[in-house]
Formats: sequence, structure tokens, C-alpha cells
Amino acid sequence: MTLGSVGATLRGAARGAGVSTAPGAADPRASQPFPEHVRPRFPQRLLELESPLQVVFLMHTKWFSKTPAKPLVAQKTPIKVELVAGTTYRWCVCGRSKKQPFCDGSHFFQRTGLSPLKFKVQETRSVFLCTCKATQKPPYCDGTHKSERILKAEVGSPL
Ligand code: FES
Repeated sequence: MTLGSVGATLRGAARGAGVSTAPGAADPRASQPFPEHVRPRFPQRLLELESPLQVVFLMHTKWFSKTPAKPLVAQKTPIKVELVAGTTYRWCVCGRSKKQPFCDGSHFFQRTGLSPLKFKVQETRSVFLCTCKATQKPPYCDGTHKSERILKAEVGSPL
């Protein structure tokens, strides 16, 4: 479904609800209880939508933002972990996980637009995984946490 077809469907739904969208017609938003500059926040806005398609469209744009958030510095030292051969791991990219260095789903619930890095190892071994999220060799530590940029950064601040 393209954005154009969604718009056409929404206009059709508005016509079905008796709302005119023709140029020169009265603005259908004029009857809304809130002026434009005090639009209610996301959950309240759902109540004023007329079509289930509008609800789906608004939730999609809210939850799957096109502009990803910046990763946060989770810690300033890497974490040593033993990786087991053949196991798939999900390394936290966003820096918001409470189970560093692995993903706990926070990237989704905090609507970051970021995704974890999935990786698998061929042999069982101990490695240092990055937690500053600035490594150039993700998910492995490359020593970037010792750089001035990371040393000056606060834990929990964006990169
Ligand atoms: S919680 Fe950070 S990538 Fe999933």
C-alpha cells in the first residue's frame, strides 16, 4: 500500500462520514475540540480519529519513525562474555538495554527506530563486547571507549 493510496482511502472514509474535503469547503478540523497549536498528545489524538485506517496510519508513523534515534553510551568499558558456537546473539545497538551488551527490546519500546545487531560465532570463545556503542567493529570492542570523545561523554548521553 502506497502513501497515495492511504491518502485516497482516508479521503474516501472522510466522504463516507459526511466530511467534505473539497477545496473551498468548510475546514472539517474546525469542529475539532482542540485548536491546531494545542493538539492533544498521541493517545488522546486516537480518540478524535474517525477511521480505523487513520488509527493504523498514525500508530505506524509513531512507532516506526523514519529518523532513528542516536545510540546512547551505555557504559564506558566493554563487557567480557563467553559466546557459544552456533548460538545467535543480538547485540544492543541503541544503548538503552538493561541487559548490556545484549538487546532486551528497549529499542522497540522506546521507539528508537534502531535494531539490534544479530550475530553468530563459529567457535566458543570469550570476547569483549562494546558497550559505548561507538566501536567501528560492532559488536566487538575496538578500544574506542578510550577515546577523548567517549571519556568526556556522560553514561546515558547520545553519541
Ligand atoms: S535494546 Fe538496544 S538494540 Fe535492542
